[in-house]
Amino acid sequence: MAAARPPGRLLLEGIQNALDASAMEVSVELFPDGCVIEDDAIAGFADERLVYTVFLSDKPDEPTKRGRMGRGLKELIASMDGARVETVGTTVTFDDAGRHVARNQRTRGTRLELDRTFSAPELDEAERLLRLVVPPRGTTLKVNARPVRRPRLHLVLSPVDLETVVVRDEVERVVERDTSVSLYAPRRGEEGHLFEMGIPIGPLGTPWHVDVGQRIPLGEGRDRPPERWLLRLKTILVENLIHRYLDRRELRADWVQEVIAGGRLEARTLDAYVSAVFPRGAVLSSGSRANDRARQIGAHVVDVATMPRGVAQTLKRVLESSDAYVKRRATEFGSTPVVPDATQAAFGELVRWLARQIAGSVVRVEFFRAEPTADGLMEDATTDTAARLVRFNVLGGLRFDDPFDPTTLGVVLHELAHLDTPEHDRRFIDRLQFLAGAVARLSSEEGPRLVERFYAGVGKRDPDTVVGPIPPRFATTDDVTEVRGDATEPASGAPPADPDVPSDVS
Ligand SMILES: Nc1ncnc2c1ncn2[C@@H]1O[C@H](COP(=O)(O)OP(=O)(O)OP(=O)(O)O)[C@@H](O)[C@H]1O
Ligand SMILES: [Mg+2]
Repeated sequence: MAAARPPGRLLLEGIQNALDASAMEVSVELFPDGCVIEDDAIAGFADERLVYTVFLSDKPDEPTKRGRMGRGLKELIASMDGARVETVGTTVTFDDAGRHVARNQRTRGTRLELDRTFSAPELDEAERLLRLVVPPRGTTLKVNARPVRRPRLHLVLSPVDLETVVVRDEVERVVERDTSVSLYAPRRGEEGHLFEMGIPIGPLGTPWHVDVGQRIPLGEGRDRPPERWLLRLKTILVENLIHRYLDRRELRADWVQEVIAGGRLEARTLDAYVSAVFPRGAVLSSGSRANDRARQIGAHVVDVATMPRGVAQTLKRVLESSDAYVKRRATEFGSTPVVPDATQAAFGELVRWLARQIAGSVVRVEFFRAEPTADGLMEDATTDTAARLVRFNVLGGLRFDDPFDPTTLGVVLHELAHLDTPEHDRRFIDRLQFLAGAVARLSSEEGPRLVERFYAGVGKRDPDTVVGPIPPRFATTDDVTEVRGDATEPASGAPPADPDVPSDVS
């Protein structure tokens, strides 16, 4: 079983032991036919039986000692073809003939010589893993004579309450304990890993190395803690880092999504997540009608189909659905239909006419009255794409008496662009650009008449203005026939038709 572990993982057992023995210098040499691990810990092995007795450990049962099972060294030795453990005063040799113990003159530290052939890829992979180690401050670790550089410390979280392992009555037990968690910037070419007091455990998906200052509950192979424990650690990271250290891109990373889906985040953190990741006014998608309507009245609809189930489930705690949003806003707006006065009616007619001229669409125009919502939103206009209905708020900021006021004309074009799509997407932008261009051209060619048209509708700005018949090119578009029936629509709030203006465009 031990031999099936990657060689690098086995060698880490030797480094773990040296660090636990408080060595100041540890070196590892890798060769195609074996390797040597040497340390300078003062005492060496306290008892030769620790070298070969499975499950024998003499470490004080402290969560800050990495070893606890009494088997790591034995697994390392067992997976080799032969080995020599030379420690203070004693050398234990394992060869084809068995185990031999001899006295020696060594006064400090331990040298492990391990015999086994390694392929070149195995050696490369082992070196990569050993170089991941974060040596404790003050300890030098050399791999193939080159020191392993400590990564740059990013920040330390402390105290952090995490489950750790103690051994009581010869049984490993999991207990909660305060510790510190250090985050390091990965060295060049490294991905963020989880570490147990400097010993790499496995990739974590985070942008930093995360080093836990106490034992981590680990199963066979020591390369993965239980999912529950990992989720807790990642949740703690998100809770502590969201306000300063996690940018929008990072918040979309898988490890954060896992935390969101895990559902353990405090509401406050979840709110911070939502406001960092989604635009203001985000709602969760529901039915397509509700989504369209929500977009029209200013919401940003987030498609739940594109997110993991658990994430959507959690976000429901802090985000409204488009459906709920539309209902809430409808009551908030308390929008009441309004019968337009002469100016508004003339404005409405101009909008209908513009819709035909530049957008090639027949629309209905209505007016309503709506106060700003509690959050200060004031809706100037809405368009129901399917019903081809454009509605204007008489309490909004639009200049019904001056439709060529740039802001007002801009809103009109915006609404007309929505006849193509309720979204504010690429297609919408293209359409809006086109309409802006079209209205600019129309104004340059027909400007004065455009203005005359409007004031004729208002009928009171300048009684002396003579309004002639609409120029033929305005009156003979294809949709004129459609418009005839439309002109009788009560909802359009049309003013009495001017006898001089053809009824199809009144
Ligand atoms: N380099 C070393 N210097 C001093 N003592 C060591 C060294 N390596 C191992 N030992 C001693 O040998 C014992 C057995 O080591 P082993 O790795 O088998 O178990 P462990 O470290 O106690 O637990 P684990 O199986 O969790 O690693 C250790 O408890 C320690 O007392
Ligand atoms: Mg050990």
